Amino acid sequence: LGGSNLFVVSNREPYIHSRQDGAIKVTIPASGLVTAIEPILCACNGTWIAQGSGNADREVVDSHDCLQVPPEDPKYTLRRVWLTKEEEEGYYYGFANEGLWPLCHMAHTRPVFRTSDWSYYNEVNARFADALVEQIADEQAPVVLIQDYHFALLPRMIKERLPHARVAIFWHIPWPNPESFSICPWQQELLDGLLGADLIGFHVQAHCNNFLNTVDRVLEAQVDWERFSVRHKNHWSSVLPFPISVDFLEQGTVKTDSNTAEERSQLIAELGIETTYLGVGVDRLDYTKGIVERFLAVESFLERHPRYQGRFTFIQIGAPTRSNIPQYANFQRDVENEAARINERFGRGRWKPIVLLSRQHSHKEVERYYRLAHLCMVTSLHDGMNLVSKEFIATRDDLRGVLILSLFTGASRELRDAIIVNPYDTEATGEAIAQALEMDVSEIADRMQRMRNAVSDHNIYWWAGNLIGDLCDLRLSRNTVL
Ligand code: G6P
Repeated sequence: LGGSNLFVVSNREPYIHSRQDGAIKVTIPASGLVTAIEPILCACNGTWIAQGSGNADREVVDSHDCLQVPPEDPKYTLRRVWLTKEEEEGYYYGFANEGLWPLCHMAHTRPVFRTSDWSYYNEVNARFADALVEQIADEQAPVVLIQDYHFALLPRMIKERLPHARVAIFWHIPWPNPESFSICPWQQELLDGLLGADLIGFHVQAHCNNFLNTVDRVLEAQVDWERFSVRHKNHWSSVLPFPISVDFLEQGTVKTDSNTAEERSQLIAELGIETTYLGVGVDRLDYTKGIVERFLAVESFLERHPRYQGRFTFIQIGAPTRSNIPQYANFQRDVENEAARINERFGRGRWKPIVLLSRQHSHKEVERYYRLAHLCMVTSLHDGMNLVSKEFIATRDDLRGVLILSLFTGASRELRDAIIVNPYDTEATGEAIAQALEMDVSEIADRMQRMRNAVSDHNIYWWAGNLIGDLCDLRLSRNTVL
């Protein structure tokens, strides 16, 4: 960072303080974004600005709404921004999650655009701009990394007030084609807000191309296709791919198989079931994740490979999310009903084909499932990157475990040694389960080793290094010469 300080803005905070039975409890929310960004902040001792969301959040901040985190080993500052109930409804549940989220994912959920949500979205972006300007104070060369679709208007707001700041926005979800994007009544305003940034990052080149095509269609801007940049209002923004990743720590000692088998039996006993093979899925209960499609694939697999009846169980960890939105509440019900139906159809004695654990689990708990499963299924209908796939790989230092991965994830472009599936193709996805369970041990190890090399080379520090490195270079090379 060359002496500059790092400021990150996201909606979701990395630690939530809540009061339970009189005591304050800290939880880490289920968010790929949070998992990815936290190690960067720890390494740079920067400032993270996010919405305060826990019912005890106000009790632990100082008079500037700040506290030092991680709680057990403080390394950076968390500044909380408080939203009213109406602001949260309109900006977060409304415009961000009923409008932009379905707009950008091809999961066939119709976006809802309400004028009142749009007003709150503007208002809350301005609230975060105020907090950021206050935090930055008189920093000479602040580096600002804005995260995600909650803050499309923030880059311009910041640049107008702090022209010397280096500003990037990273869009963690896909960007659709221009026709799809054009149904948003405020497409011009969103693009104009984003183009206040010096750098706009997506996970993959295809999303950069969609974005540039959208700008070309909608704004009177100069699109430079050679350099993947846009000149708008006499300011250049570069539009580049930065595939996000996870912190990859070499565990050192490889666990022996007998250890794993023992631990697996213990886990199976704790779940109160009997089975031999385990599959795992870890998701927020979000309609973009293809969880029902995954269950249908398990059903098809058991139908076509009856010898696995009584021997294969799929464990779905599903963290409830955005439950105020009707589509999410309905989706959670659909997932529960589908699991119950399949269990009813096939289950016998203490064996169950699907175990659905609908609650939030800590990283440590999830890691145990990753480590003990024979396979992990990621069947998103559309996903910017998907970090579950990379977390699973980072955990498997025993070189066991097969990854089944949707071709509609950004991750499928990097993890070519996964079994790549189209989750809409139920039979083929079911066959992938059979292929995974019958794969030769040495092939499993070879594939896992190659995927581990990919994730370890391109880990989260590589992502941040490229993003911040490019951001600093770009501003010097382009905008100052204008
Ligand atoms: C996606 C988004 C993140 C978000 C996460 C969890 O990964 O890209 O910005 O934090 O979902 O969703 P939530 O609405 O609970 O923050």
